[in-house]
Amino acid sequence: MGRLDGKRALITGAARGIGFAFAEAYAREGARVAIGDIDLDRAREAADSIGDAAIAVRLDVTDQISIDAAVATTTAALGRIDILVNNAALFDLAPIAEITRESYDRLFSVNVAGVLFTMQAVARRMIADGKGGKIINMASQAGRRGEPLVAVYCATKAAVISLTQSAGQNLIKHGINVNAIAPGVVDGEHWDGVDALFARHENLPPGEKKRQVGAAVPFGRMGRAEDLTGMAIFLATSEADYIVAQTYNVDGGNWMS
Ligand SMILES: NC(=O)c1ccc[n+]([C@@H]2O[C@H](COP(=O)([O-])OP(=O)(O)OC[C@H]3O[C@@H](n4cnc5c(N)ncnc54)[C@H](O)[C@@H]3O)[C@@H](O)[C@H]2O)c1
Repeated sequence: MGRLDGKRALITGAARGIGFAFAEAYAREGARVAIGDIDLDRAREAADSIGDAAIAVRLDVTDQISIDAAVATTTAALGRIDILVNNAALFDLAPIAEITRESYDRLFSVNVAGVLFTMQAVARRMIADGKGGKIINMASQAGRRGEPLVAVYCATKAAVISLTQSAGQNLIKHGINVNAIAPGVVDGEHWDGVDALFARHENLPPGEKKRQVGAAVPFGRMGRAEDLTGMAIFLATSEADYIVAQTYNVDGGNWMS
């Protein structure tokens, strides 16, 4: 018996990386999963690799029409949404003197407005259904503390922690738990891009930033997407019913709060 038998989940940005690992883990636990992503081809590949338990849904979290359509498509295909994981996000890096308004707008549009308005669209459905639900937002250790080259991304993730607190307190009266996960450094395509940006800005050889951040983790290595699935499953089960508006660090010991 799976821990999520009969549950239906929408995971944003699940065509690859952490979101995809969550989709696989949820399906293994008995849930049906909608993989919502701006990269529809990759979302289809991801859904195909999971099998009958997964569907691919086109979703651009910066576009309200796309959010509403994706929520409607998911609800029609799966019957209801019990679990939403707000996972889609973008990263950028620049010293304060070089941050562009374009980069700021792009990151806030995906990482903050995308989280808020996808959460709102799904919460409206959950309230109307009257059966409660679980919403899990992907924050980051970057939301706990600013970093010299990462001002905008850090600010977006601090905003996700704050939105989780407000939405968590507001929606629990409808039986909707809103919580967040704050990963540390998780290897994968995302961090390949981060490493390349640091290499340019800090004049490092490729792979060196990954080596440095991995060596600094008390656990002794960078995280893997699978390191996060336990928390993502737990927060989606009834065992987490009394957990409200929290952000959990899953980072090998990087941050303590
Ligand atoms: N990888 C890490 O080290 C790390 C650390 C802390 C937090 N996180 C957070 O975890 C989450 C997943 O990270 P990841 O490493 O898997 O990222 P990733 O870059 O590998 O995947 C992000 C996914 O989001 C999709 N996406 C981008 N813009 C979108 C949009 N407008 N609408 C819908 N989908 C869109 C992409 O196509 C991609 O599939 C993110 O919220 C990230 O900020 C990651």
